[in-house]
Amino acid sequence: MQRLKDKVVLVTGAGAGIGLATAKLFAAQGAHVYITDIDGDATVTAAAELDAQGYDVTAVPVDVSLGQDVNALMHMIDSKHCRLDAVVNNAGINVRCDFRNMSDAEWVKLREVNLDGVIRIARDAFPLLKASGRGSLINMASIMGARGMRTLAAYGATKGAISALTRGLAVEYAPYNIRVNALAPGFIETGLTERVLKIKAFSDTLLEQTPLRRFGTSEDVAQAALFFASDESPFITGAELAIDGGMAAAL
Ligand SMILES: NC(=O)c1ccc[n+]([C@@H]2O[C@H](COP(=O)([O-])OP(=O)(O)OC[C@H]3O[C@@H](n4cnc5c(N)ncnc54)[C@H](O)[C@@H]3O)[C@@H](O)[C@H]2O)c1
Repeated sequence: MQRLKDKVVLVTGAGAGIGLATAKLFAAQGAHVYITDIDGDATVTAAAELDAQGYDVTAVPVDVSLGQDVNALMHMIDSKHCRLDAVVNNAGINVRCDFRNMSDAEWVKLREVNLDGVIRIARDAFPLLKASGRGSLINMASIMGARGMRTLAAYGATKGAISALTRGLAVEYAPYNIRVNALAPGFIETGLTERVLKIKAFSDTLLEQTPLRRFGTSEDVAQAALFFASDESPFITGAELAIDGGMAAAL
């Protein structure tokens, strides 16, 4: 059985990593997937691969930090499908830095993508999620939104805000039967973490702090997104699900 049969879904940051795995899984589960990313070539490559497998996808280059990109995207979806059944608000970046030396430009860039972009998508997708009658908005938070780690204070601040946004929107969108939930990945092997996980001493320490003794895969996160996007979670809203191998639960 296809768990997203005939649903219309949007995934941001779907050109790589968690977003790409989510787009692939959702397409295989019968959804029409809007594959969007700031990297237009990556969206075209992903869409071509899925199209060749007979899946139903549309590639759209979108920078979530630009209002005009998001506006144009929502108009396109409205004209083609008139609704969104699920949105995976996933696009994000990381700027690792000593907080004391972080430049204004570094902070603004981080905020514009991780916070302003997520807020823009959550706001501008509202009419299409409402039109669904059973919309699901899934925001990508992080284990770092509730914990501290050197060089990740600013990143963690943006992710903590996503957790708060999720709770607020769960209440605000509930009258429209739109569920709003967050995913909080731990350490997942993607381009975002590739460089730092190659530092053996660092990755060994992280693995010691992870009860399941491995890093996550993009597919691990995609499966959790599928649960929230599907009709299998109709009474769950305002929740945050950790996908971290038990890291947040451990001492
Ligand atoms: N990898 C992890 O360990 C981890 C842990 C917790 C949370 N997350 C979050 O998961 C999400 C996905 O991360 P990932 O690990 O797959 O990273 P990734 O770098 O592999 O993929 C991120 C994608 O987002 C795209 N992107 C970047 N800026 C964009 C913009 N302005 N507009 C549209 N697309 C943009 C990139 O081109 C890329 O394709 C992020 O929000 C990240 O913060 C990741």
